[in-house]
Amino acid sequence: MRETSPVRYDHDRDSWDVFRYEDVYRVLSDHETFSSNRDALHPGKAESASLIDMDPPQHTKYRNIVSRAFTPKRVADLAPRIEQITAELLDKIAGKGEAQLIKDVAGPLPVIVIAEILGIPAKDRHLFKEWSDKLVESAAVQNTEADQALMMEKNRVSQELYAYFTEQLAARRANPGDDLLSVLLAAEVEGERLNEQQLLSFCLLLLVAGNETTTNLITNAIRAFAEQPELQTRLRENPGLMPGAVEEALRYYSPVASIPSRFATKEAELGGQLIKKGDQVVAWVGSANRDEAKFPHPDQFIVDRKPNNHLAFGWGPHFCLGAPLARLEGQIALQAILKRLANIRLQAGSELQPVTSTVVFAVQELPI
Ligand code: HEM
Repeated sequence: MRETSPVRYDHDRDSWDVFRYEDVYRVLSDHETFSSNRDALHPGKAESASLIDMDPPQHTKYRNIVSRAFTPKRVADLAPRIEQITAELLDKIAGKGEAQLIKDVAGPLPVIVIAEILGIPAKDRHLFKEWSDKLVESAAVQNTEADQALMMEKNRVSQELYAYFTEQLAARRANPGDDLLSVLLAAEVEGERLNEQQLLSFCLLLLVAGNETTTNLITNAIRAFAEQPELQTRLRENPGLMPGAVEEALRYYSPVASIPSRFATKEAELGGQLIKKGDQVVAWVGSANRDEAKFPHPDQFIVDRKPNNHLAFGWGPHFCLGAPLARLEGQIALQAILKRLANIRLQAGSELQPVTSTVVFAVQELPI
């Protein structure tokens, strides 16, 4: 596609697909031409309450507020706890000789971390997992009858989640703690705070954006290590290479295959095609990350690839807010898995089933 039709119109989905690094980079960087707000061309519509659908300057203000909850120090302070949670999960499979990586480790880890960051009691964590799975499932809906059902399910789950967080927020207002909800309630920029609706949308966004993506980063990396055992040897011998290996895993098997939500605010030329005002544009970051014009030997997993300016966390104003946390979780989990599980291989006879989605690049389970 990058060679023959780098920018093409998909008539079934009524949107443009953009495959080359250079073009994906432009779509994500140029928010004045490629808006994140579906309603940007409909003046009078209410401003979006969710960070991910906003454009600057509204986005800048809101992002500055929520960034208070994701400072480098707050993220770095989580390391010992992430190590402990990972160790507990690995203890449960120790000595068994086999594991279902997603069910046993990569699935629960980010959910527990996010729930703890938000100060959610352990007894409610299973709700989190259920909500985040349902929300992610419905994030890539198209216009079919099955999708209508998913949308209804998404609305139901969102209502449940909003009701739950409304209670949690009220409790923190009465009794603030050190958790992320309390920090968000108190955070202000230029005298402005988030209103209740914005707070609730942000909690929902964290679940959608932060759980399955991190699960898939860990799983996709272990998949690559199982497919290419020499990577395991190299990383076991040189643990200092792990941060680079996480970056390469993000590039090689990007957990987010495409970012579907950009809308042209004006006519624009892209890769020789004329994008009309109002058209939807899908940025294929998974393809951009394998672009031979940007990355030498793009189909090789090069642990110490430098430079490695992949777009797995997006780019521009919406660059993933949780990237430092995802990187930290990825590095800790992969290091611990390599240390505890010798000689990781896919279970004999297992066939990997891809997750059916155009947004997510992942397998349904990784039996190792
Ligand atoms: C945004 C990927 C983990 C929170 C994004 C975007 C991508 C992405 C591609 C850009 C979306 C756009 O441009 O429309 C990933 C990947 C992750 C990951 C691959 C794991 C490997 C996380 C985590 C959190 C998080 C752990 C939080 C706990 C967010 C938020 C945004 C975002 C809040 C919206 C930022 C904004 O609109 O300004 N992520 N993400 N992500 N991510 Fe992540």
